[in-house]
Amino acid sequence: MTTPDPIAYLDLVAETGRDYKQRLLDVLDLRLGHTALDVGCGPGTDLPSLAARAGSVIGVDLDPAMVAEARRRTAGTGVEVVGGDAQALPLAGSSVDRARVDRVLHQVDSPRRVLAELGRVLRPGGLAVLAQPDWETLAVDPGPVAVNLAFNRFVCDRVVRHPSVGRQLVRLAGEAGLTAVSVEATAPVLRDFAVADELLGLTRNADRAARAGRLSRAAARGWLDDLAAGPFLATFTLFSVVVSAG
Ligand SMILES: C[S@@+](CC[C@H](N)C(=O)[O-])C[C@H]1O[C@@H](n2cnc3c(N)ncnc32)[C@H](O)[C@@H]1O
Repeated sequence: MTTPDPIAYLDLVAETGRDYKQRLLDVLDLRLGHTALDVGCGPGTDLPSLAARAGSVIGVDLDPAMVAEARRRTAGTGVEVVGGDAQALPLAGSSVDRARVDRVLHQVDSPRRVLAELGRVLRPGGLAVLAQPDWETLAVDPGPVAVNLAFNRFVCDRVVRHPSVGRQLVRLAGEAGLTAVSVEATAPVLRDFAVADELLGLTRNADRAARAGRLSRAAARGWLDDLAAGPFLATFTLFSVVVSAG
C-alpha cells in the first residue's frame, strides 16, 4: 500500500477539479479592493487566482510543508502565506472581505470553531465559500454495492474525521452566526479508474479495511478487480455553500 505524496495529491485534485474551483472563485465576486483569505491553502493552489482578482491575499495553513510550498509558488506576487490554525486564525477581527475554505473542515478538530473564526475575521457583509465532499455518498460501479457500502462505512468511521460535514454546512454556519446565501450540491463524475483510485483512495483504503477485518480480503480484492476491469464510474456529492457575515 502506498501513501500518496500530499502535495502531488492536492495537485491532482486541483487538475481534476478545475471546474468546481473556478465556480468557487466566481461565486466570491472578488474586487481589486478586497482582502481575500484562503483558509487551509495547502500548497497554494488557489492563491494565484485570488491574487489576480483581489487587492490583497492571505493564505493560512497548519502544515509547515504546505506553507513552505505555498510561499515558494507565490514568491514575488505579494501574497502572504502564514502558518496557523484555522480554529484560531492569526488575523485581526473584521479584516477580510472574502474567504474560501476548500476541503479543510473534514480535517480539523472542530469545524464549528473554524466557522466561528470566519465570523470573527470577516467584515460585516463579507462572504466566504465553503466546499466539502460528502464521503457517505461515494458510489462506484461495477462491483457489488454491498462492498461499496462497507468501504464507505470504513472510510467514514476510520479514515475521514468529519466525513459528512458537507451536508451540515448550512446548519453549522447558522449556529456560528453566518447566513447561508447559496447552497449547491453537485455530483462530480470520474470515469478513469487510475485517477479515481488515487483521488479516492480505493485500493489503499480497501486494503486497510481488509487489514482491520471490515472487509474480507477476497471481497476487497474482487471489488478492486471489478472496478479496474470497468467500464468504471465513481461519483459523490460535493457541497458548496456561500455564507455572509453580519
Ligand atoms: C485537502 S487539503 C486542501 C488544500 C487546499 N484548500 C486545496 O483546495 O488544494 C486540506 C488542507 O487543510 C490544512 N489544514 C488541516 N487542518 C488545518 C487547520 N486546523 N488549520 C489550518 N489548516 C489546516 C492541511 O494542512 C491541508 O493543506
